Amino acid sequence: MHTIRKIQDDLVYVGGSDRRLSRFENLFPIPRGVSYNSYLLLDEKTVLFDTVDDAISRQFYENITAALAGRPLDYLVVHHMEPDHCSMIVALLHRYPEAKIVCSAKALVMLTQFYAEDMTERALVVAEGDKLSTGRHTLHFVMAPMVHWPEVMVTYDEPSKILFSADAFGTFGALAGNIFDDELAFNSVWLNDARRYYTNIVGKYGAQVQALLKKTAAFDIEMICSLHGPIWRGNLGLLMDKYQKWSTYEPEDKGVMIAYATMYGNTENAANVLAGMLADRGVHNIAMYDVSGTDVSELVAESFRCSHLVLAAPTYNGGLQPRMESFLHDLKALNLQNRTVALLENGTWAPVSGRHMKAILEGMKNMTLLENTVALKSALAENQFDALEALANEIAAQIVE
Ligand code: FEO
Repeated sequence: MHTIRKIQDDLVYVGGSDRRLSRFENLFPIPRGVSYNSYLLLDEKTVLFDTVDDAISRQFYENITAALAGRPLDYLVVHHMEPDHCSMIVALLHRYPEAKIVCSAKALVMLTQFYAEDMTERALVVAEGDKLSTGRHTLHFVMAPMVHWPEVMVTYDEPSKILFSADAFGTFGALAGNIFDDELAFNSVWLNDARRYYTNIVGKYGAQVQALLKKTAAFDIEMICSLHGPIWRGNLGLLMDKYQKWSTYEPEDKGVMIAYATMYGNTENAANVLAGMLADRGVHNIAMYDVSGTDVSELVAESFRCSHLVLAAPTYNGGLQPRMESFLHDLKALNLQNRTVALLENGTWAPVSGRHMKAILEGMKNMTLLENTVALKSALAENQFDALEALANEIAAQIVE
């Protein structure tokens, strides 16, 4: 049975959610599921904005059939060719043979690459600034390369003042009836997943997100319909503030994340002692994670949130503990910048983990390494308390107001 919801008099939500998929892109855990959003405009012409992952194909077809109520489908606008949104395109175009596909030139190439079917005859290829009138509505097409793939575009709908934003402004998390941000507890339930989605999926492309924000600033936007998660209409200011920070690699919070690797608990113990010292000096909301027991997507999201990172790790195979090494390489790949970092290394006979962490961090932009570092030999020794206190003083002096 269909599960459509009305967004405006002539705009209907026809997407759906997947709570069975355990990992998005077969990579990121999604314990709260994910939604694949699709929207149907019922103007003088009918326009479908994007399809969905084929995991929810039955729901999608039931929704479109109900929403069209016997009308033909005139246009399918394709904003993004990643298969979580495009895997239904070919099947849909066969089902609605009169529909034209509206997309960027690069998207058309990708469609052939993925599905070996040439849709050129049915394509209306659009470029920056092109418009399409559907009756009462005019669709403005804006190219958004690398947010999150090169073929991406977004659409501004006039006069409804809606931005169809592709992956931008999306979030992990299945929808449960409530499709608008002001119908659900965003800060307490959704914000962490929004941050984890942005930082891991789009985090690398801050400059491209900034370019898109500048272009769309020319439009009067009252609602944002992205491809994942709730529709934004009540908290646009909050969302824009978060996107501004995330895309410029500015920390959200003046705060400390301690990420440690530990084999037998000794490095963890030193991390705990340091956390206590920081708390004694007035540092609040200290976040601490074992990199071996925390999914790296959570570590990445927290690194984007916090201004200060403490990295503590043992030496392993003459190098760096592999989970810590993988985490730091992810941060580098995602272009994290502008953080202050303290290092704490451990090694029983030849500690080198600090050197390896430093080498990765020095390859990143604008990362400030604190002067105080602590090198453990197997375990924190009584005579190293002063060094740890000095590190705590240096961090607290930058955070506590
Ligand atoms: Fe939701 Fe980049 O696809």
